[in-house]
Amino acid sequence: MPQETFTLQIRQIRLETDDVLSFELASPTQNPLPVAPAGAHLELHLPGALQRSYSLLDEGLGGCYRIAVKREPQSRGGSAWLHSQARVGQTLQAQAPRNDFALNEHAPESILIAGGIGITPLLAMARRLNRLGHRWSLHYAAPSPDRMAYRDCLQALAADGHGSLHTYCSSEDRRLDIAAVVRASGPQAHLYCCGPAGLIDDFITATQDRPPERVHYERFAARHAASTEGGYEALLARSGKTVKVSAGRTLLDAILDAGVDIPYACSQGVCGTCRTRVISGTPDHRDECLTEAERQSNEAIIPCCSGALSSTLVLDL
Ligand code: FES
Repeated sequence: MPQETFTLQIRQIRLETDDVLSFELASPTQNPLPVAPAGAHLELHLPGALQRSYSLLDEGLGGCYRIAVKREPQSRGGSAWLHSQARVGQTLQAQAPRNDFALNEHAPESILIAGGIGITPLLAMARRLNRLGHRWSLHYAAPSPDRMAYRDCLQALAADGHGSLHTYCSSEDRRLDIAAVVRASGPQAHLYCCGPAGLIDDFITATQDRPPERVHYERFAARHAASTEGGYEALLARSGKTVKVSAGRTLLDAILDAGVDIPYACSQGVCGTCRTRVISGTPDHRDECLTEAERQSNEAIIPCCSGALSSTLVLDL
């Protein structure tokens, strides 16, 4: 099913650091926006048939959403377009915010760990925790102070509420020791991490003895290469089509080529937008969004990056 979209207009663009721009997006007709819980992301449709997810900096209560986008030299289009082509007044289509990185609002202690632009969902969480009057601490790592977006804002949030901010810059030889941060947190603490792959890997290692329901992370990019070996076919049960997946194509490419509509956003196995039910067959899971239990059950597949170990997959599409 095609996803419903609504129109947002770029109302303001701000330079936050040398390589981070923030965008304020509002309804051009002043319609109220769906509220976005802390940690949620927005799917934006950008020119060139690009669809990209961006974490929201706040809940959209003031009638606008705000996102921050880092200029990525390896950008596959989203960051490049927003940094070089986007202008105030332009309109974009968006899908209602989704939250795959939800904040537990009843935790006695929340530990937030951010690397670089991974600060965006954690900033929304710090704001929300302040509103709830809960205790939080944020550990924020970046290469240097001038590349630390929202540092002043976070300092003000920490001073306003029950938060504490700890910053780490490699340029100042202050390095984040995730294992030490986790060790110092109480056993009931909920721990959150967003940032580059290495940081998330360290976080997973440091929290392996914690109950999984208290450990939350959001990756920017998948660790595993997408399955593009091909050599299998997918039977799309609802549309009655059979799709051959050839070498060099992902399962998602093949499904879209066959004219079957399937929502997708990151195309990297991170966001979960393209999740599809598997009726039969054995997926070759390469994603970062299913849980280990879901992968073992083989009841779902992330077709933007995963393929098949069996010669045929039957999908609920
Ligand atoms: S599109 Fe994001 S996981 Fe497939």
